Amino acid sequence: MGDITEEREVDWYKRMSFYQIWIRSFADGNGDGIGDLYGVYDKLEYIKSIGVDGIWFSPIYPSPNADFGYDISDYKNIHPEYGTLDVFQKVLKKAHSLGLKVIMDLVVNHTSDEHPWFLESKKGKDNPYSDYYIWRDEPNNWDSLFEGEAWEYEPERGQYYLHLFAKKQPDLNMDNPKVREEVKSIMRFWLDMGVDGFREDVINFISKREGLPDGIPFIPVLGAMRHYKDGPHIHEYLGEFRNVCREYDCFQIGEGPMTTVNSAKNYLMGPTKSLDMLFSFDHMMADCVFTEFIHRPFSLVKLKKAFSKWQYALQGKAWNSLYLENHDHPRVISRYGSELFHRESGTMLAVSYLFQQGTPFIYQGQEIGMTNIHLPSIEHYVDVLSKNNYYKYHKNDPVEKRLHRIHISSRDSARTPMQWDDSENAGFTTGKPWFYVNPNYKKINVAAQEEEGEYSILNFYRRCLELRKHSKTLLYGTYREYFPKDPGLYLYERRLEDTAYLVICSFAGFPVRVPMPKPFAGKKGRLVLCNYPKEEKKADNLLEKTQQKVDAAATKHGWFRPYEARIYRFDLTEETGEKTEKN
Ligand code: GLC
Ligand code: CA
Repeated sequence: MGDITEEREVDWYKRMSFYQIWIRSFADGNGDGIGDLYGVYDKLEYIKSIGVDGIWFSPIYPSPNADFGYDISDYKNIHPEYGTLDVFQKVLKKAHSLGLKVIMDLVVNHTSDEHPWFLESKKGKDNPYSDYYIWRDEPNNWDSLFEGEAWEYEPERGQYYLHLFAKKQPDLNMDNPKVREEVKSIMRFWLDMGVDGFREDVINFISKREGLPDGIPFIPVLGAMRHYKDGPHIHEYLGEFRNVCREYDCFQIGEGPMTTVNSAKNYLMGPTKSLDMLFSFDHMMADCVFTEFIHRPFSLVKLKKAFSKWQYALQGKAWNSLYLENHDHPRVISRYGSELFHRESGTMLAVSYLFQQGTPFIYQGQEIGMTNIHLPSIEHYVDVLSKNNYYKYHKNDPVEKRLHRIHISSRDSARTPMQWDDSENAGFTTGKPWFYVNPNYKKINVAAQEEEGEYSILNFYRRCLELRKHSKTLLYGTYREYFPKDPGLYLYERRLEDTAYLVICSFAGFPVRVPMPKPFAGKKGRLVLCNYPKEEKKADNLLEKTQQKVDAAATKHGWFRPYEARIYRFDLTEETGEKTEKN
């Protein structure tokens, strides 16, 4: 593998990968049951050891927690439960000394209704903050994404305010230049402190269509989206924010719910380029529509279609972000993999996305294969979206069906405490954890996987990131998919000059035969990564021994074991004997 350090340091984020921290459930440093910055400080070496190059902090600002941090009441401070600005600066300094970049969540589509701006704004129509939010005498027909209608009456002012999310998350009026100045001042505040960039929350929603026309009636939630998604002034406003970033060496990734790949291009390239990458949602809908609303069985073909659509559209033109989990989606092994084949599917899923073109994000707990939690009743859950879906959106369904839906889709499954070891509370806290620990922590935890050797999910993530980081082909090479219609296999190639990598992932829970794509048929590839150990453990009994023989025979003849993943490297000039540079 060639040395790539001589490359120019432009677009440094392309070589990177990030680790996302949802702080409340990450690590509790002071024993009050709530994750905090003291805990993060102590775990920075661990994060670094995974092989990532940066951290994205989900919001750590003061917040009444109606939406766990995404309802901010002070943009220039740290939530007292998590620490202080002083502690944050210590974390930042230590992260930087370990070579980790730090990006913050910038949540400016809305604030908390307890933010001082809103407290002023709701008093009346003639104070300096009156136009900071979106007020109307009469609501339109929009639904919010989280809590019924998108309008709430405020008796003090005698008007309705818009909230695209929860009632406690009033939307800011971005058409007001003063609000945009506030956003820039928030950005400068953190950039001056030394942070390296922002993940910008639902950023494609910040510009609403003039006059706020009614959405399509009878289409709940989505019927209104056309009037605020990728709105009329979005590029102008984001351009202003981009200019602030240009004053610093700052990186921006936007969250773009429901953004199509075509409109994504307007954010990522050309004269309206205002973001370095977007979080797209298409590949998060291979078993549902918009995460919690409508479910359907997992379809690999849908997943591949979404992956490839974005890869093909952006390669050579813009840059992708790659992710399978974050704080908004249930755990991916429980969705696209198999809890039965926990290690196998967890490692295979890593291979399925980490080697595409783009910058990978890994969500806390994903690297050890944490899975969904099944709590006994809706009262045990805390997420506003889950509660709304249970009590309102699906209210006519039987209880069992609604609870089942919560088990497979609740965002709370991504928010259970991080499983560090098999001691009480999974080593997350010495106190009483703020939320339920998944009972499988005795088996699934960091300490166990550190011990388990190179094929534990954790150590496999490390190997994947190491491989990606040192290969120009895997970083910058072109992407091409093979057999897109195959319902059980995902094959893709990365190619640069004379080197090609072929990535093969089986999503089947039984052995399957893998055909070789034409360009590789008859060529000799070198196996550079496989999620099954080369030497099987010593088999203890006859059944295991027989199974191993079957496995060995199967592998020889192009069969893949359940959830097997392999990467082969091909030197495309080998046959002609030309000298090649190893990529
Ligand atoms: C984004 C966040 C999510 C939050 C919502 C409203 O989608 O990732 O957690 O609830 O925006 O801020
Ligand atoms: Ca704490």
